[in-house]
Amino acid sequence: MKTPEQINEIIEYGTKAPSGHNTQPWKFLVKENEIQIHPDFDRELPIVDPDNHALYISLGCAAENMLLAAKHFGYECTVNVVTNDKNISFIKLLLNQTGSVERDNLFDYINIRQSTRNLYTNDKVSSSNIAALQESFNFKGIEILMFTTAEEIEKLETFIIEGSNRQFQNKDFVKELVSWIRFSKKEVAQKRDGIWQASMGMPGVGRTLGNIIMKKFVSASSEAKRWKKQIEASAGFALFTVEKNDVAHWVLLGRAFQRFGLTATQLNISHAHVNMPCEEIQVRNKMAKQFELTGHPLLLIRFGYSKKMPYSYRRPLADVLETP
Ligand SMILES: Cc1cc2nc3c(=O)[nH]c(=O)nc-3n(C[C@H](O)[C@H](O)[C@H](O)COP(=O)(O)O)c2cc1C
Repeated sequence: MKTPEQINEIIEYGTKAPSGHNTQPWKFLVKENEIQIHPDFDRELPIVDPDNHALYISLGCAAENMLLAAKHFGYECTVNVVTNDKNISFIKLLLNQTGSVERDNLFDYINIRQSTRNLYTNDKVSSSNIAALQESFNFKGIEILMFTTAEEIEKLETFIIEGSNRQFQNKDFVKELVSWIRFSKKEVAQKRDGIWQASMGMPGVGRTLGNIIMKKFVSASSEAKRWKKQIEASAGFALFTVEKNDVAHWVLLGRAFQRFGLTATQLNISHAHVNMPCEEIQVRNKMAKQFELTGHPLLLIRFGYSKKMPYSYRRPLADVLETP
């Protein structure tokens, strides 16, 4: 029998998923045999994610964690995207206790996965590990293109830098980003969301000084310089594409990316987002043309080796549970 404690635990594993700017844009609703994951549009990112694709990718990441947790507790679990009468899409997880559910070892890595934003060590990832990352999921409509040689990465760099330049020349982008940075331990412990400065390798300076630093010292050119170093130290890049640019594929992409992140964690491989060329639509289109992609490139991930960073925070269950 399902217990409320198990259901809460499954949801808690969902909240450990990554989300754009760590907005945690989800609400969970428990019904008889199902858990629903609803978008929390109060937490959307209108500048960097105007169509909410990243928001639904984040919900997909949460769904995959919850599926792994459900299996761990012995439930068969199916994941569906449905639309309500207000035309809002959400995810339904149906849980069924059958007695013979195969556990997935990726569950063991949910608690230690993180987006690791530091400088990687330049070490290469073996071809068997690259293959393991590529095979970490098998969802129709979601593909990964790997960039691992110097020539391949050089081609990608142009798009990364163009995307970064466009974003850091856009005051609204910087304003939105700064509103989600938590500039001290006190601030992050209070809000339990957003990007904690320590997880970016920044000192805890507080919001007033943090705002000044972001305005006066962080620019398109300083970011481009920083990215060139990060790119050089990475072992490779994974570009995720979706066959169709719709909610169902965004959710599926989230599930695929979560499996990729957990597999990387299992292999001691660090990973982090380099999404700028996917987020800036003109750059996304140019990149799709250059690499002759048939799908839409929506996530770009660097990977390599590095030490762990401090973990980001999550809001408590009480803040994300909806009452029916
Ligand atoms: C759809 C999506 C987009 C993201 N975009 C970026 C990004 O552009 N830059 C970045 O540094 N991190 C990005 N992240 C990572 C989040 O900031 C990270 O998941 C969040 O801060 C929580 O940290 P954690 O992954 O270590 O738990 C993204 C994550 C998701 C799911």
